[in-house]
Amino acid sequence: MNNIKKKLNKYIERKDQISCITCYDASFCKILSESNVDIVLVGDSLGMIIKGEENTHNVTIDEILYHTNCVSKHKKDFILMVDMPINSYSNPEIAVLNAKKILDINADIIKIEYKDEHKNVVENFISKNIPVCAHLGYLPQFAHKKEDTRIYGKDEAEHNQIFTQAKTLENLGVDMILLECVDSNLSKLITDSLNIPVIGIGSGENCNGQVQVLYDIIGISNNPPGFSKDYLKGSKSVAEAINKFCNYVKEIKY
Ligand code: KIV
Repeated sequence: MNNIKKKLNKYIERKDQISCITCYDASFCKILSESNVDIVLVGDSLGMIIKGEENTHNVTIDEILYHTNCVSKHKKDFILMVDMPINSYSNPEIAVLNAKKILDINADIIKIEYKDEHKNVVENFISKNIPVCAHLGYLPQFAHKKEDTRIYGKDEAEHNQIFTQAKTLENLGVDMILLECVDSNLSKLITDSLNIPVIGIGSGENCNGQVQVLYDIIGISNNPPGFSKDYLKGSKSVAEAINKFCNYVKEIKY
């Protein structure tokens, strides 16, 4: 069992939900490293948050490596998860090369937006002992129209598709599943059916953990999603706001 699986198992045994917050730079990472956050994610949401673009479609592997390097300067007890940006996993060999570059700068686990066509990419990660989180439901890298921003898995066909993907990925050996904008009944079913951690964003409170974009929870995003809350309101500092979010997550039991 890899070290990350062991650490994730400890989180699961604890029964408190897992907290995960995005981060893109050293200063915020220092604050996060002094909080009790469990997972820090260098997300390709940096396309919107840092670069001011409309979406994640132009984020490059070099940008991800740059921001991972900044964040890893203050890495402490948390798990450092990093996104594989679009175009960084166009075939299984390229995917492994890029994932290794990410892991070489002190990251613990990579995250990939998963479509069935990426099964051989995931298989190659697993065969090379690369810890993987598979992202299901709303996949921002593949969203091209406004209507793609919606709740996934409400109808039977899509429900079955996402459930089957989650089961297949667990059987392949991935370490964690992230559900974005998945119907809350389906996210509960997936969480109850899998033995690996399932964390969610906009997918209800019945997962093993909650993910949020840092700038959304401190109220400085241009366009925060409806499910996010500004924890800086009523807090004296960013550190206090982050701890409020982590405490809120820990109070939701599963
Ligand atoms: O890139 C990101 O920040 C993400 C989260 C929204 C889950 O993938």
